[in-house]
Amino acid sequence: MKIGIFDSGLGGLIITKAISDRLPTYDTIYYGDTLNVPYGSRSPEAVLNHTQAAMDVLFAQECQLIVMACNTANASSLQKLQQTYLPRTYPDRRILGVVIPTLETAHERQYTRIGVLATQSLVSSKVYEEELHKINPKIQVFSQSCPLLVPLIENDGLKWIDPILQEYLEPLLQNNVEAIILGCTHYPLLKTHIQKFLEKTSIELISQDEIIPDKLADYLVRHPEIEGSLSQEGRHEFFVSDLTDAYSKTAHYIYGQDVPLSLISSSL
Ligand code: DGL
Repeated sequence: MKIGIFDSGLGGLIITKAISDRLPTYDTIYYGDTLNVPYGSRSPEAVLNHTQAAMDVLFAQECQLIVMACNTANASSLQKLQQTYLPRTYPDRRILGVVIPTLETAHERQYTRIGVLATQSLVSSKVYEEELHKINPKIQVFSQSCPLLVPLIENDGLKWIDPILQEYLEPLLQNNVEAIILGCTHYPLLKTHIQKFLEKTSIELISQDEIIPDKLADYLVRHPEIEGSLSQEGRHEFFVSDLTDAYSKTAHYIYGQDVPLSLISSSL
């Protein structure tokens, strides 16, 4: 059985690479729903339907557990899928989210004013605010939706990113945040661009590719019944729901090397 990693598009390749660097022997399958990206501007119902179809794809490919890397999918789908779909269809499998582990990290680092950069859908869901307040009601969260970032990244548009980033970061800077969570799978690609705007500040970037691999390793230690069923031949497969030359190029750019993408369609 394998570890699945799901994202709405290709941004999740960043976290996939970080996971296979941290846990190189475990077999992984990536699934990017490139046919339906971006999720960030869709309704929660549409995201839930697409995400459930993606879980079906990965479980059919013998995933024992799936890391739901897409923050937008986490917000509208994770709880519902864990509470109803999973017990009904795959009671022995697991879906792990990325939002709560990210917030635990922010809390452990004792920040009290936290900025979040995320998609429109994720900001509207208020999931970061609600979950952070459960951990510590004193923490203040300032969320900024960034609808232009994913389309620019997926379409080779980084040369236009700086003035747009400046506009998105400005409200967070004015609110004197101590840390900024990159609340979208694609944003770690922008770390150096964002750092330029934070040079004269002590604001820390909280990036999921630096958090989730350790959290996953820790989860596997705590759950030997799951870990024991995972195959460890160091094989990494990559599936997408739509395959074009442009996607292959973007995948190469994001992953830092050629990615052998294969087409697989979901039931939607
Ligand atoms: N992957 C999504 C996330 O992490 C963002 C991309 C999209 O809009 O589909 O929130």
